[in-house]
Amino acid sequence: MSRTIIAPSVLSADFSRLGDEVEAIVRAGADWIHLDVMDGHFVPNITFGPQVIKSIRGRTDKIFDCHLMIAPTDQYLAAFADAGCDIITVHAEAGPHLDRSLQAIRNLGKRAGVSLNPSTPESVIEYVLDRLDLVLLMTVNPGFGGQAFIPAVVEKVKRVNALIGNRSIDIEIDGGVTPETAPLVAAAGANVLVAGSAVFKGGFEAAYRENIAAIRAA
Ligand code: DX5
Ligand code: ZN
Repeated sequence: MSRTIIAPSVLSADFSRLGDEVEAIVRAGADWIHLDVMDGHFVPNITFGPQVIKSIRGRTDKIFDCHLMIAPTDQYLAAFADAGCDIITVHAEAGPHLDRSLQAIRNLGKRAGVSLNPSTPESVIEYVLDRLDLVLLMTVNPGFGGQAFIPAVVEKVKRVNALIGNRSIDIEIDGGVTPETAPLVAAAGANVLVAGSAVFKGGFEAAYRENIAAIRAA
């Protein structure tokens, strides 16, 4: 099996020095940068938009993995593409036209992802598999960092893995990922792990390096 990709979520970073935090996690071993965009409507929290993403784009060449927790979605896709996102993930629950959103992302030349809340069944991806580059399975209810991992989703990881078959689609896990929970989802078939609080705890670069290494080792 190929190496697990670790994607720290900057949601737990110090926003007053976001660019420096991005550089610090890259030096500490991050593979992708996970960007949690929240609108205070689809989820009960507000974070940042394309302008902030654009402002940190120059700090690293790593993949910008953009998780849109916004509704509606489609009219903002071009702005996130222009901001420098490489992967754009929309929530299946965010609108009635998932197929259209995924086509729009690919038409912008970006990798298309779909995210499922913990209670959403995996069957919603069955008819869009050919339009997908990534499936992001939420292991917390989206909106906040630092929540407890929901173990029922481990079974969904296995089912999504079976649905995907031999297509080249990443399975990403987001929420409550720690050295304790990482092995559960990796064994079930996930190859990308998002971690916010578990990476940024300690508050400085040496701690980030240890935290990323601990998740990878697990
Ligand atoms: C939650 C976000 C996550 C969050 C993960 O809505 O999508 O990316 O930052 O944070 P932790 O790892 O602290 O659960
Ligand atoms: Zn996320």
